Amino acid sequence: MAPKVLISDKLSEAAVQIFRDRGIDVDFQPDVGKDKEKLSQIIGNYDGLAIRSATKVTQKIIDAATNLRVIGRAGIGTDNIDKEAASKKGIIVMNTPFGNMITTAEHAIAMMFAVARQIPEASASTHDGKWEKSKFMGVELTGKTLGVIGAGNIGGIVCDRARALKMKVLAYDPFLGEEKAKKMGVEKVDLDDLLARADFITLHVPFTDQTANILSADALAKTKKGVRIINCARGGLVDEKALAEALKSGHVAGAAFDVFAKEPASENPLFHLPNVVCTPHLGAATTEAQENVALQVAEQMSNYLLTGA
Ligand code: MLT
Repeated sequence: MAPKVLISDKLSEAAVQIFRDRGIDVDFQPDVGKDKEKLSQIIGNYDGLAIRSATKVTQKIIDAATNLRVIGRAGIGTDNIDKEAASKKGIIVMNTPFGNMITTAEHAIAMMFAVARQIPEASASTHDGKWEKSKFMGVELTGKTLGVIGAGNIGGIVCDRARALKMKVLAYDPFLGEEKAKKMGVEKVDLDDLLARADFITLHVPFTDQTANILSADALAKTKKGVRIINCARGGLVDEKALAEALKSGHVAGAAFDVFAKEPASENPLFHLPNVVCTPHLGAATTEAQENVALQVAEQMSNYLLTGA
């Protein structure tokens, strides 16, 4: 019998075709991931589950998943999956670490420009018929120092784009070797050095026990006055309350956040503060990236279900 896969999030339909072409029986139910009860009722019918971020694969879902062999995350972060529960049951969890890295790096760069020039506020004011030309004085990126926390796949692309913008790039990443840093044209530094010197700080690390609150109140106090902070990685990396205070005091000049400690975020200490740009976790939201991750996850899951590889 052909293996059965459920797609429970809004995955590009290109994935459906791949599964079909590989002879896999696929159900495309993009809204079922948000309905925990329904998902736990039907998950027992499937060998594979393909998701993005809306489906939360909890212990309860895993308990009900009597036939599940693989969970495929079309994207990078697997923090919406109870990996311990899955692994205890022998269910493989796979992601697509490369499909959306350019798109996410581009969003971080876009957010850096947006906060440097206050583009969202200037746009809203212009739409309102005000012509507040003198209100929105920005800063140039050329010649400024960018501190990149995490210089892996996405952070590495951000370093490359920032260098093309003629920024000086500092990278804090325990996994980055001196040689690689040299090749990338960045200066490898420790975190305190980065905090003290950066005009802009951007985060590109996963959320783990080691990175949670990496920009704590103490760390924020070590930053340069007038710093602008960008987070397109994961909520919980920055102490949002402490950052809100630092913005109010004027120590931090601006922030651009795509991710929040609690998502979906209907309220947050950063909301409604001046010169804070917010987007609703759009880092990977381009047609190109969504197509890439959908195709990749479908290929990987098909390989695993059909050959065990
Ligand atoms: C990812 O982990 O791939 C990105 O944060 C995008 C997403 O969660 O949809």
